[in-house]
Amino acid sequence: MQITEVKHYEEMSKKASELIINRIKQMPKTVLGLATGSTPEGMYKELVQAHKNGEISFSNTTTYNLDEYIGLPSEDKNSYRFYMNDRLFHHIDIPLEQTNVPNGMASDLTKECKVYDESIRQSGGIDLQVLGIGVNGHIGFNEPGTSFETGTHVVQLAPSTIHANARFFASEEDVPKQAITMGIQSIMKSKEIILLISGAKKADAVFQLLHGEVSEIFPASILQNHQNVHLIADEAALSKVKENGMRSLR
Ligand code: PGA
Repeated sequence: MQITEVKHYEEMSKKASELIINRIKQMPKTVLGLATGSTPEGMYKELVQAHKNGEISFSNTTTYNLDEYIGLPSEDKNSYRFYMNDRLFHHIDIPLEQTNVPNGMASDLTKECKVYDESIRQSGGIDLQVLGIGVNGHIGFNEPGTSFETGTHVVQLAPSTIHANARFFASEEDVPKQAITMGIQSIMKSKEIILLISGAKKADAVFQLLHGEVSEIFPASILQNHQNVHLIADEAALSKVKENGMRSLR
């Protein structure tokens, strides 16, 4: 794992957007895997700005989002489709039909998961996946205990995830209890991964990510086995790792 330490959230966002822009310049048909949540918001702002400045076109890229709540339509401001349109897609030149977010309103969710995996496969697979991490080590909505062998599937959200995400909803009861998520296996098939982590509340998670055993109890630990992960983390997120001495990793 390649680790880049940055001072703060803004620098993390800038570095991540530069990396994405470089990859798209090298290969305009890049297939991007995208994430939602607070962490990548700054990066999306940087990408929108770069597009407005004429630095980058997304017209040939294809995107696949990691996850979506079940039961929220695309017009709901808490759905991840709404988030992606609002933060990125409506402000850049990617045709919307090249953007993919699992459909959490599908009547046949099992079929939706299969179709999503098949679509990723037909696109040639994800070239560059952007990831955040949950305080419990989840990646996408792959909660602790998820098998490393899963493709896209339906999950029950962990109480800690519902609690963490309640800040976006009127109340904790309004947070959907289920979601569709790309599986660990799908994430691990990405050719390259950028993992973004910011803030002191993630310091324990970063420590476990880098120093813990690879175990389904802490899903992000599987990333230790991926050959091309670039972790961009700020000082606060790395604080516990640094207290204990940074160890170089495979
Ligand atoms: P956050 O969520 O970026 O809102 O902290 C990350 C995650 O839960 O994966």
